[in-house]
Amino acid sequence: MDSEELTLVKIGGSVITDKSKPLSLRFNCLNNLSSALARYEGRLVLVHGGGSYAHPIAKKYGLKIEPAKVEPKGVTLTRLGVFTLHNEVVLSLLRAGIPVYSIHPHHILYKECINVLNEALSCNLTPITYGDVIPSKEGCFVISGDMLMRLLAEYLKPRKVVFIIDVDGLYDTDPKSGRLLKEISLTWRTEHNAGVEFDVTGGILGKVREAQKIASLGSDVYFVNGLYPERVLKVLRGEETISTMVSGRVRS
Ligand SMILES: Nc1ncnc2c1ncn2[C@@H]1O[C@H](COP(=O)(O)OP(=O)(O)O)[C@@H](O)[C@H]1O
Ligand SMILES: [Mg+2]
Repeated sequence: MDSEELTLVKIGGSVITDKSKPLSLRFNCLNNLSSALARYEGRLVLVHGGGSYAHPIAKKYGLKIEPAKVEPKGVTLTRLGVFTLHNEVVLSLLRAGIPVYSIHPHHILYKECINVLNEALSCNLTPITYGDVIPSKEGCFVISGDMLMRLLAEYLKPRKVVFIIDVDGLYDTDPKSGRLLKEISLTWRTEHNAGVEFDVTGGILGKVREAQKIASLGSDVYFVNGLYPERVLKVLRGEETISTMVSGRVRS
């Protein structure tokens, strides 16, 4: 599979769940998004976040992106939330016409996962993985969907990488009072990090950092609002729409 033809897409937990209520699915948003993704003609590799199915439980039990000794029950409960949401995402994508192949995020830590990704693609399956909790000698840690995006981008070198979030793109300060940025550089930093009290994986700061690393590898990276699925489809098709781009390519 020519990886240039692949597009790597993260479905943000903030779009498909209601962050103000634990374990709450935004059913219509998810289905509309699935339909938009199904209308895209190209090949996709998908990642989704945990939103309100994972972050509140992870936070309660002290899970973070750094390994920590936590109550084991907290790991099981967080993963139960992750799997519950994952099933909803898989069902929604299938109903829309995207048969997916779930790949445990553990595999994505190793470059060999590229084999199963390619084999799934060759069987006309769309690979999908998700933010999760991983055990290690030092304790358990959360692997964010954003970090999985970076690892997958390193292996697959896709032409385009899309982060679907619940706002119109990246803002110079914050989405409420700031200005939407059409493009950011590889070194741009936001001062603002709203949502970090909810998000155990670093909120927008961590996401932007991963996106810039991906762009520096040569992929064109976009942030687009998943509450407007037609914008997502336009970004995928390379048409003009409201979004923020992180450019990694030197253009002539
Ligand atoms: N400067 C900014 N630009 C865009 N979004 C921002 C900014 N600062 C904070 N945010 C918040 O970041 C959130 C997206 O990050 P996050 O919730 O981690 O997404 P995900 O759904 O992928 O986990 C948005 O809901 C937005 O309110
Ligand atoms: Mg997040």
